Amino acid sequence: MTIIDGKKVAQDILAEIAGEVEAIKAKGGKTPHLAAILVGNDGGSESYVASKIKACEKVGFKSTLLRFPDYVTEEKLLQAIANLNNDKDVDGFIVQLPLPRQINEHKVIESVLPQKDVDGFHPINVGRMVLNLPCYVSATPYGIVQLLERYHVPTSGKHCVVVGRSHIVGSPMSILMAKNTLLGNCTVTLCHSKTENLKSHTQKADILICALGSPEFVKADMVKEGAVVIDVGTTRVASTETKSGFKLQGDVKFDEVAPKCSFITPVPGGVGPMTIASLLKNTLLAAKKEIYS
Ligand code: GUN
Repeated sequence: MTIIDGKKVAQDILAEIAGEVEAIKAKGGKTPHLAAILVGNDGGSESYVASKIKACEKVGFKSTLLRFPDYVTEEKLLQAIANLNNDKDVDGFIVQLPLPRQINEHKVIESVLPQKDVDGFHPINVGRMVLNLPCYVSATPYGIVQLLERYHVPTSGKHCVVVGRSHIVGSPMSILMAKNTLLGNCTVTLCHSKTENLKSHTQKADILICALGSPEFVKADMVKEGAVVIDVGTTRVASTETKSGFKLQGDVKFDEVAPKCSFITPVPGGVGPMTIASLLKNTLLAAKKEIYS
């Protein structure tokens, strides 16, 4: 059994990005610039955005954080997005989700210029991903693909079961794993809250990708011997073990599932760090204008 070290792979990717940034700067090029919009002060969003900004510093990107109170109007938010769309210095930007109720999330996502949508959430980027055209693939699925690639996990002809059909993870993941590409060619089953007898599906998975957001939901009896298990869950639960008073818990009961696996990602230190590395990779692509040239 191999524990997939997402922290190490993410550090390797950040080092590769830092090298490229140095080369760009040495040639007198513009410093890549990522901006983030954060609305309100949800604990999870605060810490994700703080990690993204910190990673920017690490690789030599410029970063800008725009904060708004949770009572911000949609109009004001859309204006801020328009400003970032028009700002020539900003290569890419993200609007951290979730947003407060008064804001229409779809309207916000569609107002981001696809060329600067380094989260890969805009329908144009999602559509281009489905059609195998150059696009920004959203950071978590992109991170998972890179983990599987760097650990040489065989995928062709395998049965991949994805649990969870969110727009951010489950749905794009199911599409990527079925693609006729080097990493892909899986037969994919996408399970969700209405799936009957979920266990009968997960037990058949060669590759099981869990993105439900339900701590320790996946138990040993749901997993096939030798399976590859990717745990995308990051639920914040109260803990006396940490200074912050909470810890991140995955969707998989790691201790009992890991011994059955050929590969497994831990939480924390699995998919999570890869999400940030992938966002920065997308930002570098945006700075180099490689996707929409
Ligand atoms: N909320 C949870 N995951 C993400 C993400 O990848 N990007 C943004 N913008 N918000 C999120």
